[in-house]
Amino acid sequence: MKIGIVGGTGHIGQGLAHRLSHNHEIILGSRDIEKASYASECTIKALKERGIESMCSGAVNQEAVDKGDIVVLSVNYKNLESTLDSLTGFENKIVISPINPISKGDHFYYDPPADGSAALAVKRLLPENAKVVSAFNNIAANKWKQLDDELDYSVAVCGDDHEAKKIVMGLVNEVSLLKAVDAGPLAMSSVVESITPLIFNIAKYNDMKDVGIKFI
Ligand SMILES: NC(=O)c1ccc[n+]([C@@H]2O[C@H](COP(=O)([O-])OP(=O)(O)OC[C@H]3O[C@@H](n4cnc5c(N)ncnc54)[C@H](OP(=O)(O)O)[C@@H]3O)[C@@H](O)[C@H]2O)c1
Repeated sequence: MKIGIVGGTGHIGQGLAHRLSHNHEIILGSRDIEKASYASECTIKALKERGIESMCSGAVNQEAVDKGDIVVLSVNYKNLESTLDSLTGFENKIVISPINPISKGDHFYYDPPADGSAALAVKRLLPENAKVVSAFNNIAANKWKQLDDELDYSVAVCGDDHEAKKIVMGLVNEVSLLKAVDAGPLAMSSVVESITPLIFNIAKYNDMKDVGIKFI
């Protein structure tokens, strides 16, 4: 599969590339082609050191959208609307939102947009036939690039298009020990997104690292 990542030079984008680019063509998108090329070179190098060939490349965000069968929106919520305003071509694509609208005072808290969740904001901003699925919301970025570490977490996946959700769950299950669980329609994404500040607070107040969730 071809997976385009908008904002792919960031933590989650590069992390996904590290974990998926041996199996899938990953197009790391950026506003800056040089930044994208550098991020993809880093991924290729990291995998090469382990004897793994990486199918990762860098591109501007629009090219990542155009080339991707699946497009991951790996930008912070505050940059979502301006980013989507600058991009076209999402018709009929599977679009993954890992986006968590979080604010921070003394602690982290869920700061939902008027739409109810970031995923529903994505749905409103994209063409009607884009298939929006939320996934990867609750795994802190830290361990994605540490390829010697397993990612032993559950990934709650929400979406309204059954086929698209199935494809995304399959993708999740390819990564390390991740286990996708169907968390219902896209309207349930607010609940999933709100777990991330809980995780961040637990890590902060208990001096813990790599806190995650596992549904058993
Ligand atoms: N970090 C985590 O632990 C974590 C965990 C779960 C989910 N998430 C979610 O995943 C998404 C990505 O998180 P991240 O930590 O990877 O984010 P990040 O590293 O802070 O940023 C991702 C990318 O956004 C782009 N960007 C920065 N400012 C921008 C602007 N003004 N307009 C457009 N693009 C801009 C940058 O790419 P270019 O400069 O190359 O364009 C950057 O590499 C977020 O929505 C976050 O809530 C994060």
